[in-house]
Amino acid sequence: MDVAAWSTQQLAEFVAIVSTARSEKEAAHVAVERAAEALDADVAAIVCAGDLIAAVGYPEGAVPVGDLAAARPGTTYARQLEVPGVGKCEAASALLEHPPGATMVVARLDRLTREETGLMRGMARVTAITMRMLRVLDDERTARKEIERLAHEQAALRNVATLVATGPSPDEIFAAVAQEVGQLLNADFTELTRFVPSAAVAVVAAWSKTGEPVPLAGPKPLGGHNLTTLIHETHRPERLEYDDSGPPAAATGGVRIRSAVGVPINVEGQLWGVIAVGTAGYEQPPPDTESRLADFTELVATAIANAGAQTELKASRSRIVASADETRRRIERDLHDGAQQRLVSLALRLRAAQETVPPELDELSAHLDSVAGELTTALDELREMARGIHPTILAEGGLAPALKSLARRSSVPVDLRVAAKGRLPERVEVTAYYVVSEALTNAAKHAQASAIHVQVDPIDGILRLAVSDDGIGGADPEGGSGLVGLRDRVEAAGGRLTVQSPPGQGTRLTVDLPLGQ
Ligand SMILES: Nc1ncnc2c1ncn2[C@@H]1O[C@H](COP(=O)(O)OP(=O)(O)OP(=O)(O)O)[C@@H](O)[C@H]1O
Ligand SMILES: [Mg+2]
Repeated sequence: MDVAAWSTQQLAEFVAIVSTARSEKEAAHVAVERAAEALDADVAAIVCAGDLIAAVGYPEGAVPVGDLAAARPGTTYARQLEVPGVGKCEAASALLEHPPGATMVVARLDRLTREETGLMRGMARVTAITMRMLRVLDDERTARKEIERLAHEQAALRNVATLVATGPSPDEIFAAVAQEVGQLLNADFTELTRFVPSAAVAVVAAWSKTGEPVPLAGPKPLGGHNLTTLIHETHRPERLEYDDSGPPAAATGGVRIRSAVGVPINVEGQLWGVIAVGTAGYEQPPPDTESRLADFTELVATAIANAGAQTELKASRSRIVASADETRRRIERDLHDGAQQRLVSLALRLRAAQETVPPELDELSAHLDSVAGELTTALDELREMARGIHPTILAEGGLAPALKSLARRSSVPVDLRVAAKGRLPERVEVTAYYVVSEALTNAAKHAQASAIHVQVDPIDGILRLAVSDDGIGGADPEGGSGLVGLRDRVEAAGGRLTVQSPPGQGTRLTVDLPLGQ
């Protein structure tokens, strides 16, 4: 076989073998092995930037990386390499296009022929291309994994964010976060804990890979060897190796936790609690666990802050309405016990005085008569006023008679149908009364209506009120304080108010009030 044919065949075999490598490292190893064999070399190596990538022919641990790196192309045959057990060898080298800065070096006692040098360059080229290709494939695999990971993370965050947007209870959010985090991070156990005053901690949500329900422990004192206590001290993400000293499996949904990672949850600048994942294996959770957990703490914190703000808002509205009602009741009581009583006794005394007036003083008698008459009118007016402030008839007789009296006083005829029988919770009665009262007043004041229809029905735990008129429509809650005040009052009682008032088609007010609690 001539030299060219031999060279071609060697290169073909080299390609066939090197191209089966599955990693850069493996390609480099196969390459130096085949090159040494084909060129009958004593040693062959690939070095890169002072690092050894692969070598054959040297005893273990005795590769002179520095010497190999110095045998650069252009200095071909100029370097001599001392090879242990062989002696001074002639080194030949070729640059690899990949990895950048790498060279392939082969050495044997006699110099390589021109054809052999050519073959070696060919091998170097094939090796570089193969390693390059494997690098690209590897990068792509890594990128794809990263993309998949990010997609999962995004989906989990989106699930929680969507839930947060619907305004559920904090407990629902905590449970969702625990589950999403556990599944996303492939944990065996997840726990959300909240710090409570006087150095205690309560579990607010937990999830176990086993699917077993995890009992939510009430507040217990901080202390001992555990992640929550540690984070309470440091305010930082922490890791802990429990090995076999962790919490009993019964407390963690059947999982024996060996290591755990947790990060603090801060709400409005305050340490609020901890979100932690645990694994049953002895190996540490991946290093990016802290940062991935932190992505969720933001959402949890937002949800907590929102929920807190809403609860506070509801509570303050309800306080405002309750205190206004209380004030009305007090004024009513004061009028009744104070001014009204005094007027009544004054009227009685006046009548008594009238009896004692001699018949000849008929002018005085007539005068006293007219004073007594005015006194009675004042008393009536006062009674009327007290009723307007807080209807006694409502407190005494309940909703149906109170609405009847409202309807009777309306200047526009009212068709009243009350299906609710007996007494309802006081708050519902008072709210319903004010709704109907304001709606009737509005209809009389603004609607130019000829009829008003009032319907009151208890349906499935709620009381539904509907007041409609056949007037001009176009009611606008922004236009006054009546409808806005009603909405506040209704929502403070846990209900909902809707106003439908298309111009020219009358106005319909619907209110749903929960009867429960
Ligand atoms: N039944 C109705 N028909 C037509 N327009 C209405 C009706 N009810 C309310 N409106 C319109 O909507 C506006 C807002 O009503 P709202 O009860 O809030 O205020 P108001 O009656 O003007 O004042 P307030 O109730 O504070 O004494 C009214 O000014 C009126 O223009
Ligand atoms: Mg009004």
